[in-house]
Amino acid sequence: MRFLTIKQAEKQGDGEVSLRGWIHRERGSNKFRFILLRDHTGFIQCVFEKEILGDEKFELLKTLQVESSIEVKGRIKKDERAPTGYEINADNFELIGLSDKFPIQKDQSQELLNDNRHLYLRSKKMISILKIRSTVFGAIHEYFRSQGFYEFHSPIFQATQSEGGSEVFEVNYFDKKMFLAQTWQLPAEAGIFGLEKIYTISPSFRAEKSKTSRHLTEYWHAEMEQAWANFKDIQDHGEALLKNIVKKVLDFNKEELKNLGRDEKALEPTMKKSFPRMTYTESLEILKKQGVNIEWGKDLRTVEEDILSKLYKTPIIVTHYPKKVKAFYMKESENDTVLGCDFIAPEGYGEIIGGSQREENIEEIKKRLEEQGEKPEDYDFYLDTRRYGSVPHSGFGMGVERVISWICGLENIRDSIPFPRTMTRFTP
Ligand code: 4AD
Ligand code: MG
Repeated sequence: MRFLTIKQAEKQGDGEVSLRGWIHRERGSNKFRFILLRDHTGFIQCVFEKEILGDEKFELLKTLQVESSIEVKGRIKKDERAPTGYEINADNFELIGLSDKFPIQKDQSQELLNDNRHLYLRSKKMISILKIRSTVFGAIHEYFRSQGFYEFHSPIFQATQSEGGSEVFEVNYFDKKMFLAQTWQLPAEAGIFGLEKIYTISPSFRAEKSKTSRHLTEYWHAEMEQAWANFKDIQDHGEALLKNIVKKVLDFNKEELKNLGRDEKALEPTMKKSFPRMTYTESLEILKKQGVNIEWGKDLRTVEEDILSKLYKTPIIVTHYPKKVKAFYMKESENDTVLGCDFIAPEGYGEIIGGSQREENIEEIKKRLEEQGEKPEDYDFYLDTRRYGSVPHSGFGMGVERVISWICGLENIRDSIPFPRTMTRFTP
């Protein structure tokens, strides 16, 4: 038997079809049963009549609970009254997998949904988000490949920290101390000497103690590193990458955005308008006009980023942060600042990209490592990138779940990934 997806069957529009999927909802009487069938392409109402099915099959159907899997054979027809505009007049069905009473019913607490995450993945909400997530990952690969970048991989087990020691996970590696990668960047800086333009999408790990709606301990990190690229080049790449992601989602996921109640209009400016770029110092001026006074030299906190982000309809790029709030590898610029930038998403979704031009001066890097309590000799492989024909280079990292949260308009980053890992949640 040849099975169609629900979408294919609707496209066919009439005649015999065979479908398979899961019972999403069911109701009925002693003569009729209405089954809302789900597959990965959508939902369709199937109408079963006792007369046609026969007593035995009809009684079996009545006992089936939601999430039982079935095959359905019948005739599809347009029906304005049906929830999706089409309906199946079923001739027969086969039970494939019986379902126990499904633990997730209507209006469940968040806690129960989290405990049953593996089952919650079948919800319309999660299916919509995960389809968008798939588009986003595809758009990232497509962007970098179209720009001539090679995909390059670095180890998850790393011998040093790279983004600040307080947020690094330590692992016991045959009685030696190792760390889970916070970033791909340091090995990637060695990679550009062979490949020049490289990117990756890989998990990064942060031992974030903060229980916020935008921090995961394991997240997917899209990073790029480019030889000969300057500070402006990577800002341009970051902007073009985000535009491409949003464009692809608007091209392919209109239906999913609608399911999530996300207004497309909130995303359109990102595709069409150029992103405002401002220095950290200028951002303090803008915040001051909003009644927020920050002492020069203090990092922007979430609250301040949120105030800034709500003034614009596209992501904004804040550049030239004070040297002391940024990582050791960022290139020094005038007045104690660095050539580092953060992209801040609109609507209070926070920092979605962090990037910089890299410091070339090996003595400056060693000094800054020491200031952070690190031993420069532990970073010897990295320092070699400055010893053997170093070139100007730059790169950035994008938090993919942060971008998905913003695009989908999610309340919590947790729902942007199938199995979220946070400080308090690590099962299932
Ligand atoms: O700003 P970060 O720490 O920058 C780096 O790791 C650089 N080495 C990247 C590079 O230049 N190659 O992290 C980059 C991005 C942030 O802008 C944020 O979007 C995301 O990673 N991110 C997180 N996303 C989810 N949960 C967390 N705990 C995150 N921490 C950072
Ligand atoms: Mg950052």
